[in-house]
Amino acid sequence: MNYIRDKKLLVGITGGIAVYKAAGIVRRLTHDYQCDVQVIMTRHALEFMTPLTFETFSDKPVITGMWTSGKKISTRHIDLVSSADGLLVVPATANIVGKTIAGIGDDLLSTMIIACPPEKCIFALAMNTNMYNNPVFQENRHKLYRYGYNVIEPGSGPLASRKEGDGIGRLAEENVIIDYVNTFFQYKSRLKGKKVLISGGPTREFLDDVRFISNPSSGKMGIALARAAAFAGADVTLVLGPVQIPAEGPYKTLRVQSADDMADKLLTCYKDADIVIMSAAVEDIKPAKSNGKIKKNAIPQSLSLSPNRDILKEMGRNKGERLLVGFSVETKDILESSRKKITDKNLDYIVINNPQEEGAGFETDSNKGIILDKYGNQTEFPLQSKRELAFRIIDLITG
Ligand SMILES: Cc1cc2nc3c(=O)[nH]c(=O)nc-3n(C[C@H](O)[C@H](O)[C@H](O)COP(=O)(O)O)c2cc1C
Repeated sequence: MNYIRDKKLLVGITGGIAVYKAAGIVRRLTHDYQCDVQVIMTRHALEFMTPLTFETFSDKPVITGMWTSGKKISTRHIDLVSSADGLLVVPATANIVGKTIAGIGDDLLSTMIIACPPEKCIFALAMNTNMYNNPVFQENRHKLYRYGYNVIEPGSGPLASRKEGDGIGRLAEENVIIDYVNTFFQYKSRLKGKKVLISGGPTREFLDDVRFISNPSSGKMGIALARAAAFAGADVTLVLGPVQIPAEGPYKTLRVQSADDMADKLLTCYKDADIVIMSAAVEDIKPAKSNGKIKKNAIPQSLSLSPNRDILKEMGRNKGERLLVGFSVETKDILESSRKKITDKNLDYIVINNPQEEGAGFETDSNKGIILDKYGNQTEFPLQSKRELAFRIIDLITG
């Protein structure tokens, strides 16, 4: 579906080598998707390309400054932003990100960004690998997420500075950017005013001060769900077990270690939640914990294990008007045992993963699944990225 049609999109072009790719993106947006595009170029972007190509594709004069026109333009930076549905900065230089985070408005585009609510703004990052890895830029990048800006991360591959070989920093592919903009318009405001509670990652069940029982969950599905729900305008809280990947986003993240910590945090937030999606791989078992570190000469011959609390079941008992979604990892009798969970735990939906299938389950960037609802309907999702699957899940449960 084309959700971009007739949308008013401001496209800010900054001075990165990927400017030539932005021309192709503007052409696709206007010609293929019938988007109403207004291009703004920074002074440094003009060093790379003249406005002519962008004017030809967008069928409008490119705006290049606050003060250029002889006629009265008054508050152009405010007027442009308030009449637009979104602002896409492509390519987004390290410089424009730095100015955004510092609140600097020393030209038209940076001033428009200050006047634009973060959730209306998309940055498609592109720069040299060393610039991308610079700790100051990384801090700024994290802040973009924290403030609620939408970020299209760069890809890896050959960069303009060829002597350094391949690395992260290349502007994301044209299709990825167009797809992102389409999803942006599809989901914007869909969950506005809703409080969404999501759990993600593994838990650690310590058997002494330094050793624990856990599982390989990476947290990627929970983070993707949190991003998708926030993207759709929800007020999101992510309760996240220990994970190794960046988890920042325009949502509140509460970090936990054990299943007991997770239960405490989730059940506190549960009171206010409208939608709850439990994708964490909470450990079912808990060992009796020894004080200190178990010494080599005192290794117990057996572990004493007990079950952890069933958080989802506790939630189901007190479900009220909430929408409650569970995840289940099953390898045998998949449908039967998942249907039973829907009834036993009073769920609205259950998302089933089978980690034995190629590309699915723990640690991977992709996933596939079956979603069952409480009425017995079954929807299959083929192998796709966890980001895409997260949007499909949000789509299905709120559709
Ligand atoms: C050939 C060349 C390529 C550049 N490519 C990039 C780039 O891809 N990303 C980036 O952040 N800066 C890049 N720069 C540096 C920016 O042009 C510079 O930081 C400039 O001040 C950005 O201005 P603007 O953000 O106002 O457009 C490049 C500079 C040159 C000379």
